[in-house]
Amino acid sequence: MEFFQTPAKANRWCIDQRNTGKIIGMVPTMGALHEGHLELVKRAVKENDICVVSIFVNPLQFNEEKDFSAYPRNLEQDRIALKNCHCAMAFTGSLDSFFPRIDRSKITLLQPGAEANDLEGAHRPGHFAGVKTIVNKLFTTVRPHNAYFGEKDFQQTLVIRKLAKETSAPNIIVCPTHREKNGLAMSSRNERLTSSQRQQASVIYRALLAALSEWRKGVRGVKELEKAMVDVLVTETNLKVEYATVRDPENWQEKNFNDSATRARALIAVTLGNVRLIDNMVLS
Ligand code: PAJ
Repeated sequence: MEFFQTPAKANRWCIDQRNTGKIIGMVPTMGALHEGHLELVKRAVKENDICVVSIFVNPLQFNEEKDFSAYPRNLEQDRIALKNCHCAMAFTGSLDSFFPRIDRSKITLLQPGAEANDLEGAHRPGHFAGVKTIVNKLFTTVRPHNAYFGEKDFQQTLVIRKLAKETSAPNIIVCPTHREKNGLAMSSRNERLTSSQRQQASVIYRALLAALSEWRKGVRGVKELEKAMVDVLVTETNLKVEYATVRDPENWQEKNFNDSATRARALIAVTLGNVRLIDNMVLS
């Protein structure tokens, strides 16, 4: 596996690959790779001639410096895991190498649209502008044909799909959430949980299942669906709920469902200790 420390070198390598007609699949990540990331990588390996992975803890998408410094980093382990998955090339870089000779405060951020206004967008101001800006940069560095993202960050996939439409960027493929045995969605942030907190955090999955069960009984009232989730979440007293709500996945702003609605998306964000966790599930 090739490994580059700068986007400029990665870019040159990708141009050569494209020139020989290779179909490139890309998986953008912030590293500290777990099985959830590796599922995306395996799929990209299978569906393309070569798979490229970026590992970059993007400071532009963190609204708290503390969260950015506490974010786990395991570059050596990541390299080994990627090599074992037959990834062809991985690269990293510094903010400066992605935006040479520009002061951080002068970087023009790509602003997301209404899909980023609420939920994660409201709780983490500026987060999606940071995501959109760096993913655009990663796409221009690699120019992949296909790019793979996880459904776990559902609102992020809306932002990325919009970016891809606006910039004729790659085909976007959204992959299912990979979970621990107890239902907890895999996340690099889980590394910061103690083993008993990991157990407690499985309540998020059970809350999503409670909403699913209500939905399948025919419940379409958002208040009732929210209550079903909160009733489960409050059984873990250490956990602070930021939101537990339901959205129409087609019309993101829609907060009501008529009786014949066939699909919705339940979404949850909580903090446990000082770790913020998100998850979601389709209701159908
Ligand atoms: P990161 O959190 O490292 O996630 C990289 C990709 O892996 C994202 O598309 C995310 O949705 C996916 N992923 C994470 N956990 C997953 C799981 N349990 N199952 C399936 N997929 C999972 O998301 C980011 O990085 C950044 O915002 C990024 C897109 C790289 C831009 O900086």
